[in-house]
Amino acid sequence: MLEFSKVSKSFPSTPESIHVLKNVSFRVESGEFVAIIGPSGSGKSTLLGMAAGLDQPDTGNIHFDGIDLTKKSEKDLAKLRSEKIGFIFQNFQLLPGLNAIENVGIPLYLNRNIEEREIHERAKSLLKTVSMDHRANHFPKQLSGGEEQRVAIARAFINQPKIIFADEPTANLDSKNSAAVLDLLLHRNKAENTTLVIVTHDPAVAKLADRILEMKDGELFLPKPKKPNKKAMIAKKKRR
Ligand SMILES: Nc1ncnc2c1ncn2[C@@H]1O[C@H](COP(=O)(O)OP(=O)(O)OP(=O)(O)O)[C@@H](O)[C@H]1O
Ligand SMILES: [Mg+2]
Repeated sequence: MLEFSKVSKSFPSTPESIHVLKNVSFRVESGEFVAIIGPSGSGKSTLLGMAAGLDQPDTGNIHFDGIDLTKKSEKDLAKLRSEKIGFIFQNFQLLPGLNAIENVGIPLYLNRNIEEREIHERAKSLLKTVSMDHRANHFPKQLSGGEEQRVAIARAFINQPKIIFADEPTANLDSKNSAAVLDLLLHRNKAENTTLVIVTHDPAVAKLADRILEMKDGELFLPKPKKPNKKAMIAKKKRR
């Protein structure tokens, strides 16, 4: 479903350019839930943006659903995103001039086959799933960080995407809302087979994933499996 092959990216800077992604290769299979962890500044958001065709690598290739994203025009990538991808940005990226319900509908406005009333209805019911229906007519600047995050999550669901990329989707939420949002994401993943790629600093979120990838200073690692805890194993044997 998604494959990075030897992807590298640097940003120009003084005195020297910053190598943000260094020869990154990995695959995500259809229906998988993958968590990406790693320290701040290690390149997680850069990687996620590239996976969704929001940014291009300097070298390497990115295949999504059989298409090489590095060979596509901006217009084709925007169409692909509106049809197949849900993206939850770390900084939400809601449009300030649109209210919550209009923000949720954005991915569908590009799709001329769906009437505005239908978009409105879908957006309204999605806002309800993130307990934000009472703020449907509020503008982003009238919302708290956690409320903006929940609108951004509803927006990522509206086009019924094949894959959802979520950049720290629970970072601004209290434990109740965080659990509710995780439930929604997991439900999409398990019941509807939506592929899920989540960047997170939260060990409780990473623990739920099928697989954990770890970024360190622009490189991607598969963490070694944990060594079995000898003391715990002996205690278990004794209990038998
Ligand atoms: N457009 C840009 N221009 C210059 N440098 C950039 C740009 N985007 C990202 N960087 C740099 O690339 C590095 C990785 O950034 P990125 O946002 O991918 O990190 P991250 O792992 O998501 O961190 P965090 O956990 O804090 O969100 C950082 O050092 C950042 O300063
Ligand atoms: Mg980030």
